[in-house]
Amino acid sequence: MKKLRLDKYLADMGVGTRSEVKIAIKRGHVKVNGEVVRTPELKVDNNDQVFYHDEQVGYVTHEYYMLNKPAGVVSATEDKRCETVIDLIETKARKDLFPVGRLDKDTEGLLLITNDGDLAHRLLSPKKKVGKVYYARIQGRVTEEDVVAFKEGLQVDEVFKALPADLRILKSDEISEIELTIMEGKFHQVKRMFEAVEKEVIYLKRLSMGELVLDETLAAGEYRPLTEEEINKF
Ligand code: URA
Repeated sequence: MKKLRLDKYLADMGVGTRSEVKIAIKRGHVKVNGEVVRTPELKVDNNDQVFYHDEQVGYVTHEYYMLNKPAGVVSATEDKRCETVIDLIETKARKDLFPVGRLDKDTEGLLLITNDGDLAHRLLSPKKKVGKVYYARIQGRVTEEDVVAFKEGLQVDEVFKALPADLRILKSDEISEIELTIMEGKFHQVKRMFEAVEKEVIYLKRLSMGELVLDETLAAGEYRPLTEEEINKF
C-alpha cells in the first residue's frame, strides 16, 4: 500500500472523522511504533504499528472495480448454475468481493464490485437517493405523456409508487430509445415502470450511479480498478 497521512489512515479505518482524529492525535491518543505522535501529517503504512487509544488499528485495503456487466451473468457472489459477476474479476482478494446492488441477468452496464461494505451501504441506502441513469430500448412509442407520468411519480402496481423519475426520449418510434434517471433501486424497477405504461424494455444498460460513470472504453465483460479520483467521489 501507498503511505498515507496518519489522520487519513485512522479516518479510513472508521475510528472517527478526519477532524476528530486530528484532535485525538494532537491530544496524544495515537502511537506509532511505540511512540506518541502528535503530527497528523506523518506518513504511515501497513508496516507501521498504529495504536489508537491503545488499540491497534491495522489498515484493511479495499478494492474497487468498475465492471461493464455483460448480459448472461448474474449479479451474485456465487451461483450453482450461472457465471457470476465475481467470476469475471481476477484478484487475490476475490473471496471478499461482492457487487454493489444488482442488475438483472440480461441487463448490461455499470456495476461496482468491492469489498468495502461501508461504501456499499452508503450507495444503496434509500435515504441517500443516489441517482442511477439507464439507457434502454423500448418496444413501443415512448411519448411526452410517459415523460409526465414518470416525472409525477408513476404508480407501478398496486403497492409500489415510484419516486419522480427523469425520462428523456432519445428516439420515439416503434422501437424507442430513452435515458431514465431513477433515485431508487427496486427489483426490476425500470422494466416494471415501462410495463406500467404498457411498453416493454428490450435492452437495458446502466450508465451511471451517482457520480460514477461507466467508462465507455470498457467492452461488455471488461473491468478496471476505480481511480483514486473516482473512489474519492463517494
Ligand atoms: N431495472 C431493471 O428492471 N433491471 C435492472 O437490471 C436494473 C434496473
